Amino acid sequence: MRIFEPFKVKNLELKNRIVMPPMCLFTARDGLVNDRHFVHYTSRALGGTALIIMEATAIMPNGRITDDCLGIWDDSYIDGLKRVVDSCHDEGALMALQLNHAGRKSEAEGEKENYTISPSPLASDAEYRTPREMTAEDMREVKQAFCDAAIRADAAGFDAIEIHGAHGYLLSTFLSPVSNQRRDEYGGSLENRARFLLEVLEAVRGVWPEEKALLLRLSATDYLAGGTNLEETVQVVNMVKKFVDLFHISSGGIAEAEIDVYPGYQIPLAETIRKECDVPVIAVGLIREREMVEEILANGRADLVALGRELLRNPYWVANNAWEADEPYEYADIYKRGFGRKF
Ligand SMILES: Cc1cc2nc3c(=O)[nH]c(=O)nc-3n(C[C@H](O)[C@H](O)[C@H](O)COP(=O)(O)O)c2cc1C
Repeated sequence: MRIFEPFKVKNLELKNRIVMPPMCLFTARDGLVNDRHFVHYTSRALGGTALIIMEATAIMPNGRITDDCLGIWDDSYIDGLKRVVDSCHDEGALMALQLNHAGRKSEAEGEKENYTISPSPLASDAEYRTPREMTAEDMREVKQAFCDAAIRADAAGFDAIEIHGAHGYLLSTFLSPVSNQRRDEYGGSLENRARFLLEVLEAVRGVWPEEKALLLRLSATDYLAGGTNLEETVQVVNMVKKFVDLFHISSGGIAEAEIDVYPGYQIPLAETIRKECDVPVIAVGLIREREMVEEILANGRADLVALGRELLRNPYWVANNAWEADEPYEYADIYKRGFGRKF
């Protein structure tokens, strides 16, 4: 069964094909890791998840989605993150950290004026603050903050980082014409809209160790007339792939849209990007069952499969499925007795 076959990209030697996608716990205080993060991530490592991508972690205070998000804008965050990384490593998982700037979807610091930044001064919707348009100085600061965050993630022992370029957060708002109405070299044509992402990736690649994998999460389509779409995303992937080792393909988030959601609804997006751009991809989105994961892998539709909410419900998904399918599998030593004879 391919689920239990290893996969390698750069330093990431994954023992199986199951990834935990980033999912915010919204339980941090002052951006710091606490025991709930520790228990949560270590449980998924014990359950056999090969790669855990820790939740969106803010590179700047105004890059937090909420006040309860993890942060990495200061060296004081390294120790807490390292404690989680070391524990998950001990239980056999490899660790990535998602680096994010929330842009116009930041709700941190309540009503603070002029706090949120975005390519254009357009609110995400009526519930959100209106951001201020980023200046050249803002862009320089954000680039530097992504680089500093990558250096700290390395110091914390992460095997990989994932740059968040999806779901309507800062980098994706540059890509979409719905949120980017700039008239300078960062707006207009696709080449211009992709410029900031490309600059960030190039800068981060320069400080992130060469042997370590760099992941990029993208929303392949906005599901909006006049928004970005799969055809454009294929072009973006081709533009940035020299800096990226693995693409994590999601969708939506720029603005409210009609989305036809059903099991595996985002798989065709990942599959198209894998085939047209010749890059390794993670498929994600309403995937739960072993048979479906196997179908995706066996048909070459994705290299890895991320299970989000399924892993919230069932942290031992990998071990349980190995046991049910009678696959040869190295169970966590402390739980070996739980995976013995079935009668
Ligand atoms: C509670 C929760 C928090 C999430 N937080 C993040 C996040 O921090 N970064 C991100 O890129 N996606 C985030 N997502 C999206 C998930 O990574 C994933 O793409 C989504 O849940 C679809 O996969 P699923 O159907 O397997 O759950 C979150 C989803 C949930 C349910």
